[in-house]
Amino acid sequence: MNHSAVRNAASPEVLGSHSSRRSFLQKIGLGGLAAGLAALGFQSFRSLVPNVLYEPPSKFKIGPPTGLAEGVTFLEDRRLYVFRSGSTYSAVSAACTHLGCTVKYMKLQQPKQVEVNGEVRSVPFEFHCPCHGSKFYDDGTNYAGPAPAPLRWHRLELSPDDGQLMVDLNMEVERNFRLTV
Ligand code: FES
Repeated sequence: MNHSAVRNAASPEVLGSHSSRRSFLQKIGLGGLAAGLAALGFQSFRSLVPNVLYEPPSKFKIGPPTGLAEGVTFLEDRRLYVFRSGSTYSAVSAACTHLGCTVKYMKLQQPKQVEVNGEVRSVPFEFHCPCHGSKFYDDGTNYAGPAPAPLRWHRLELSPDDGQLMVDLNMEVERNFRLTV
């Protein structure tokens, strides 16, 4: 018996398994190629789209001055406290100057006398940060906890087109800034 002939003659089952393995490998290769081309296409498409962060505008309207209640109004989505005293308005950021948590407005049961920058004043409310305990007087002055700086006051103005109050978060103003309308 010719053993080499037996060894070389592949049975139909063996041939079938070889061809199915080859087609499987071809499929994997084609799949990889398709995935590579798709990734390349995505990268090319992505390079055409500018990297833009869509953040809310820093200048925005908050309604007509008369629409604000007397006292304090908290604009939660803007993290801003807006104060109205008759016809004067001011706005302070609720972002803690430590790590940015939102400070809470705290009305004091009794106004307290404090000395800030050599001036003795009566403070009727404060801002307290729930994260690490920073505290601020009513004018935003930091006096307790890790906050390194006062709260930021922002410019208010009237919109020339419709008379609404406008806040500009990019415009920081002195803590005694007031808009009178
Ligand atoms: S974030 Fe306000 S005290 Fe830390």
